[in-house]
Amino acid sequence: MALSEDDVIAGRGRPEPPAIEGLTPLQELDGRGLAAIHRLYLRDLRGIEVLMNDIRAGLAHPAELAPAVRGMPMAENLRLFGTACGAACRALTNHHMLEDMWLFPEVAERAEGHGPLVARLKAEHEVIEAGIEALAVAAERLAEAAVAEHFADCARLYARLLAVVRSHFGYEETRLAPAMGAHGIRV
Ligand SMILES: [Fe+2]
Ligand SMILES: [Fe+2]
Repeated sequence: MALSEDDVIAGRGRPEPPAIEGLTPLQELDGRGLAAIHRLYLRDLRGIEVLMNDIRAGLAHPAELAPAVRGMPMAENLRLFGTACGAACRALTNHHMLEDMWLFPEVAERAEGHGPLVARLKAEHEVIEAGIEALAVAAERLAEAAVAEHFADCARLYARLLAVVRSHFGYEETRLAPAMGAHGIRV
């Protein structure tokens, strides 16, 4: 059965790679690079929430739409939301493509017994990609018609995507780091 967003959020069925112990402090540091990169993506995703709050406020008081919401017209907020959402999602897609093409094959080849972990991480990337596409469609609909229903779809899909990404990042950082450190694989 295909992996679902709920499976990823709850971490259901995730394989545990063989334990790697006795890393030097420098090797431990090598493994932590991925977590540092992930923090940046999460920061960009959270930035989108600020725009969503402005849009939510605007939709709640349609009479005030024309002048501005916090100094910005609704149309401008919607445009910014589409742009920020698109940019953050594209960056995330690129990150996953690089992992799929470069990082995962390296880990699977050099770290014994890590094949199932890598296969699961790849499958989780596909779940995230589907979430990104669903959000993009909802964002387009919102841009075409700024109504509460379209916004609610965006907010729901965005919250779900964030939950899936957070869970994926946590799993990936903690389980890949020891293998990356042990084999000098850096990001
Ligand atoms: Fe990943
Ligand atoms: Fe990652």
